Amino acid sequence: MKIPILDLTAQYKSIKSEIDATIARVVDSQHFILGSEVEAFEKEVAVYCGTKYAVGVASGTDALILSLKALGIGPGDEVITTPFTFFATAESVSLVGAKPVFVDVDPKTYCINPELIEDKITKNTKAIMPVHLFGQCADMDRILEIAKINNLKVIEDTAQAMGATYKGKQAGSMGDIGALSFFPSKNLGGFGDGGMIITNNKELADKIRMLRVHGSTVRYIHSAIGMNSRLDAFQAAILRVKLRHLNKWLDGRRKVARYYDENLKGLPVITPYAPSYNTHTYHLYVLRVKPSPEKLAKALNDAGIEARTYYPVSLHLQECYKNLGYKKGDLKESESASPETLAIPIYPELGTERLSLIVKKIRETV
Ligand SMILES: Cc1ncc(COP(=O)(O)O)c(C=O)c1O
Repeated sequence: MKIPILDLTAQYKSIKSEIDATIARVVDSQHFILGSEVEAFEKEVAVYCGTKYAVGVASGTDALILSLKALGIGPGDEVITTPFTFFATAESVSLVGAKPVFVDVDPKTYCINPELIEDKITKNTKAIMPVHLFGQCADMDRILEIAKINNLKVIEDTAQAMGATYKGKQAGSMGDIGALSFFPSKNLGGFGDGGMIITNNKELADKIRMLRVHGSTVRYIHSAIGMNSRLDAFQAAILRVKLRHLNKWLDGRRKVARYYDENLKGLPVITPYAPSYNTHTYHLYVLRVKPSPEKLAKALNDAGIEARTYYPVSLHLQECYKNLGYKKGDLKESESASPETLAIPIYPELGTERLSLIVKKIRETV
């Protein structure tokens, strides 16, 4: 039996008739970019996330880039972020011409450690970009407090954590801007690329609406250098259907996580830790295996159970960031945790038969 890390086919089958009717509706409309589907989806996401505004864009990466641009961050500026994340987080900072400044992570949640942020603030620091890694929120109260004292903006990279809550607040809704990704494997995944920014700040929302269409609000009149970053009607229409199921799917993920938590207890693997103020969405269920997950990964993959390391190399040690001058040992928690992680399959449709097979294989191997 093959068990993928995520099975989108099972999800599609469960809502096939709704999705197929929606796709047909968009085809009939022959309106493919922005338009009423996108506007309706933006309103629905704003309601879901508890923010005043939501603006659909072409990807999560673009949501980060446009957030930085809207906040006026560019060359000469520094943005504090985590080295333990998908590359797009830091890449967005570099792409607007600013410098990512990496701060080490909390060894239990793997999110940025707020206690280490203040040391890295300089006169050039403009923003903090926490990442809600693997589906749970970073410690936002401390981050927001530090931002307030130091007059910094906060952009929440919420690509992996739509639907997670921190002290009852939705991920992405607490800082100045939250950036969502609708990449197919995300908590809310489209049938292609897509992203959204959420904010309570009208000025920022309006600016991003303008920047996503070449810096224009009136056709062929350009008030800024923007980009082409529009959400398309197919994605919006499909995501509107999926949004109605999101909470149920997140509950399904939590059930699977509980099964793993209980059945992997006592083994020499560290299961995910969620502080009591967080509701985790388990975008990924990530084990930590010391000194290396290699043997376990091979045993699982040989048995047809997909397992992967997210992310093997901390961003401050990536070749493209050599110019930033970091060396091995600078950010110890991130460096030791990231290659020791192993994500195992998680999705609501896994079922007890496959779950017990996965647990059995892990028990046998470790
Ligand atoms: C933490 C994080 N930030 C940003 C992104 C970028 O999102 P997208 O793939 O939609 O551009 C991702 C997606 O993989 C991500 O995991």
